[in-house]
Amino acid sequence: MSTVFRLDSSIRVEGSVTRAVADTLEKAIVAELGDDTAVIRREIGTTPLPSDAWATAAFAGFVAPEQRSEEQNQAVALAEELAAEVAGADALILGVPFYNWGVSQHFKTWADLMLTTADFNAGNVPPKHAGKPAYLIIARGGGYSEGTPKFGWDHATDWIKRVLVDVWGFELEIIETELTLAEVTPAMAGLVEKARENLAASHAAAEAHAKALAGKIAA
Ligand SMILES: Cc1cc2nc3c(=O)[nH]c(=O)nc-3n(C[C@H](O)[C@H](O)[C@H](O)COP(=O)(O)O)c2cc1C
Repeated sequence: MSTVFRLDSSIRVEGSVTRAVADTLEKAIVAELGDDTAVIRREIGTTPLPSDAWATAAFAGFVAPEQRSEEQNQAVALAEELAAEVAGADALILGVPFYNWGVSQHFKTWADLMLTTADFNAGNVPPKHAGKPAYLIIARGGGYSEGTPKFGWDHATDWIKRVLVDVWGFELEIIETELTLAEVTPAMAGLVEKARENLAASHAAAEAHAKALAGKIAA
């Protein structure tokens, strides 16, 4: 039996592109790996992790376990719970929207907490869970490719890649959808067709990645 970890961080449910593409990927992975595949979910978009838990867990690392406060024990326990969810999974689906030209604060809190743990500490060289397949599903309302006015304004994707690939050693595939605001933004009316193509390509990529994953897990 395989286990898939799925994290959603969109602050919306209705109309969420990252959730829709993650749904396609999850469904296709379960179809490939079998109905007995366990999907462990972590919802941090509509149920955020406490934003102060990271600082508490980080400082708890400098205090002997028996001397920690109740608050520190709780923050450390939360971080370890998050780490266990990822450590126990054969593959990860991470839905991460692009907000205010940077990393979703909810995703950042999750990653920061993970980085306090023994399993996902940056000091683990090589990383303890290197090679784990991970799928990063990103959605951006606008366009950020070279030649567009906002080229260079995506300050999220490179950071996320650094953590997932360079610090944690995951075997990462990225499924990006751009122009998701075209349908609801009059000034982007001319981009609607391109936006629809982008979205269709993301769903197709999700299906294709699921097929490839079955081979990776069997190997
Ligand atoms: C508060 C907020 C801030 C956003 N900031 C940006 C931004 O800086 N650049 C951008 O291209 N899109 C931005 N967006 C649009 C989202 O990236 C887009 O709606 C994306 O599809 C969100 O993912 P979701 O569809 O899974 O909710 C923002 C959306 C919200 C709600």
